[in-house]
Amino acid sequence: MTIEEPNQITESVRVERRDEVALLIVNNPPVNALSHHVRLGLLDGMAAAEASDATAIVLICDGRTFIAGADITEFSQAPRKPGIGPPQAAMENSTKPVIAAIHGTALGGGLEVALCAHYRVATASAQFGLPEVKLGLVPGAGGTQRLPRITGPQRALEMVTSGDPIGSAEALECGLIDEIVTGETLADLEAGALAFARRAVAEGLPLAKVRDRNERLEGFGEEGFAAFRASIARRTRGFEAPERNVQCIEAAVASGASGDFDEGMAFEQRQIGDLMGGSQANAQQYYFFAERAAQKVPDVPRDTPQVDIARVGILGAGTMGGGIAMNFANIGIPVTLVERDEASLERGLSVVRRNYERTAARGGISSDDVQTRMDLLAGSTDMGDFADCDLMIEAVFENMALKKDVFGQLDGICKPGAVLATNTSALDVNEIASATSRPEAVIGMHFFSPANVMRMLEVVRGDATSHTAIATAMSIGKRIGKTPVLCGVCYGFIGNRMLFMRGIEAEKMLLEGATPAQIDKVVFDFGFPMGPFAMSDLAGLDVGWNEATSSSSTVREVLCESGRRGQKNGRGYYTYDPDTRASTPDPEVEQMIRDFASERGAVLREVSDQEILERCLYPMVNEGAKILDEGIALRGSDVDVTWINGYGWPMYTGGPMYWADEVGLGEVLGRIRHYSDTLGGDHWTPSPLLEHLASEGGSLARHQS
Ligand code: COA
Ligand code: ADP
Repeated sequence: MTIEEPNQITESVRVERRDEVALLIVNNPPVNALSHHVRLGLLDGMAAAEASDATAIVLICDGRTFIAGADITEFSQAPRKPGIGPPQAAMENSTKPVIAAIHGTALGGGLEVALCAHYRVATASAQFGLPEVKLGLVPGAGGTQRLPRITGPQRALEMVTSGDPIGSAEALECGLIDEIVTGETLADLEAGALAFARRAVAEGLPLAKVRDRNERLEGFGEEGFAAFRASIARRTRGFEAPERNVQCIEAAVASGASGDFDEGMAFEQRQIGDLMGGSQANAQQYYFFAERAAQKVPDVPRDTPQVDIARVGILGAGTMGGGIAMNFANIGIPVTLVERDEASLERGLSVVRRNYERTAARGGISSDDVQTRMDLLAGSTDMGDFADCDLMIEAVFENMALKKDVFGQLDGICKPGAVLATNTSALDVNEIASATSRPEAVIGMHFFSPANVMRMLEVVRGDATSHTAIATAMSIGKRIGKTPVLCGVCYGFIGNRMLFMRGIEAEKMLLEGATPAQIDKVVFDFGFPMGPFAMSDLAGLDVGWNEATSSSSTVREVLCESGRRGQKNGRGYYTYDPDTRASTPDPEVEQMIRDFASERGAVLREVSDQEILERCLYPMVNEGAKILDEGIALRGSDVDVTWINGYGWPMYTGGPMYWADEVGLGEVLGRIRHYSDTLGGDHWTPSPLLEHLASEGGSLARHQS
């Protein structure tokens, strides 16, 4: 039988012929996710191609990517048959060579489908990964069983527990793909895949099944798994899915030894059954969509004109300015970096170079990359050099008068149409904009420290900020690998405003009898990378501290006055080992705190861990609700994205708004009222929005302002 061309199998899958080769083509925008009609189309399409006189079958996708995974929107619905297993089996058992032709991203279910082809070819820019762990899951279609049979257990462990993809070169080197085609277009990919298919037929290449390849599984035993577990322990603390993924690879190794592939498959299925629908998986899937929702600004449509950014200007090459500059150099955008004098410029540039060299020493980039990136940074002490910059980011000291002064100067220097951003972490962007004749061009771009590492970026919209400035800042933010979240003007924006509330309570609890170590441990055990006092030590106790005006009015001031600066001088709330930077609680600090408290007539008591947790987290939830109510954040989920990326709120709890929903808004409100009655303070005054949602059975995470 010859297939009529083209043969539309389902709405998203069709079969076309290229002479003797059948093309099975998936077209399910935007990312060719494995929706029900795709699975059905693959199954029926394979049957049609199998029954035809085609000699080989090429699986290829339209649009921007190969199949990018399961359709996550289906996770919350009842499963519909066929699952992914039947089309996979049809490919694996085909009597004709099946070649997967991959461009874009073969992720999750997409890679798992490709692993059932007999051969895989790809464009040079394609990426391959099993990101299910990021959704709180294990791959559900044999990914943990087939991948290690190609890559060996070590690399498979890395891929399934990080969820990060590898590129084509690495995939070719480890045998995950068989060939990189010449050219990047879909036509190039199709031509390369057809040539491969014809060669497979002509040379009678075997119909290789990954499931039968047990050799790579040999020799990796208990010790290897133990070492691997130790290597990821810190990064994956608190998450359930990484360990389940490790166990799946263990099951693959065991099934290789026993020769029973299906045993490993069954183990994988049990893990997915345990994890799917659990609180962590739900939270992580919520986060997936939250992060994407944050990219959208309702009144700034996708097609809003943007400023083309050929050169970025950065004023101030200190801790923040230098880190910010690296983000642009990393993606090849030249930067003009201006400092107030040669010495500061020299110092700033040498810190950047040291950072790059450290990355190179660890193997992250080559030494050529270090030089290429440094060459993109043009240092200067003349602000006039900003004249040709399309985006300006100011990163001078956090001082309003200074910021207004430099924005006044930038106004006279920068070309018309340039976006003028400030990296302020709290100050009023409207006031800064008022120093210019073009407030529509002024916007906040608040990077988090270290700016070259942290993914969070608050984009702060002033009253006059133009749609173009917003669209430009959001999109360049994404291009440099950040997670931009739009917010309005208020002191501290979303992130720091909530952080301040936690800080107030943490400091108060010290004066009631809790120690820094006790408070930090509770916050750490909740899942944060560190508690508030360890974080202050890391940032530097003297940030914002002024020796001349310091009056021993807070514990922090007292510590600064006694020469404690935090990690940088080895003494803060903790003492630090100069070599390992390990922290130990300091009895001297605890005594200073007790003295400070008793001078103020405080009666010390035992503060329970439960109270610490509530007093650290509930003021943040309350403040988050106020931020939402005021329209500073557009969505509850934006608050969650900010806290997960900016401060390490444990992703598996979904972020402060989602977490409060899970605890129950009635319960949360009850405790906030309790503390409002017993402790007082504006930050404990219940948010009207929280009261409203609690009484209506509403949700903070889903609330949109
Ligand atoms: N299921 C359902 N929808 C998906 C999806 C999936 N697996 N992957 C992406 N989408 C949606 C996004 O929600 C977004 O929708 P929107 O435009 O309505 O917001 C759209 O597809 C585009 O995705 P986006 O992430 O914005 O595009 P991108 O080009 O930056 O990245 C991917 C593309 C494929 C790399 C990225 O979407 C991704 O990592 N997807 C998840 C892959 C995954 O985890 N697969 C395993 C599932 S088990
Ligand atoms: P941050 O941690 O916010 O980056 P830093 O003190 O590390 O703070 O950096 C601020 C930098 O800004 C310093 O290197 C300082 O020399 C520089 N700076 C301050 N004022 C000006 C100015 N008017 N012009 C150029 N650079 C300035």
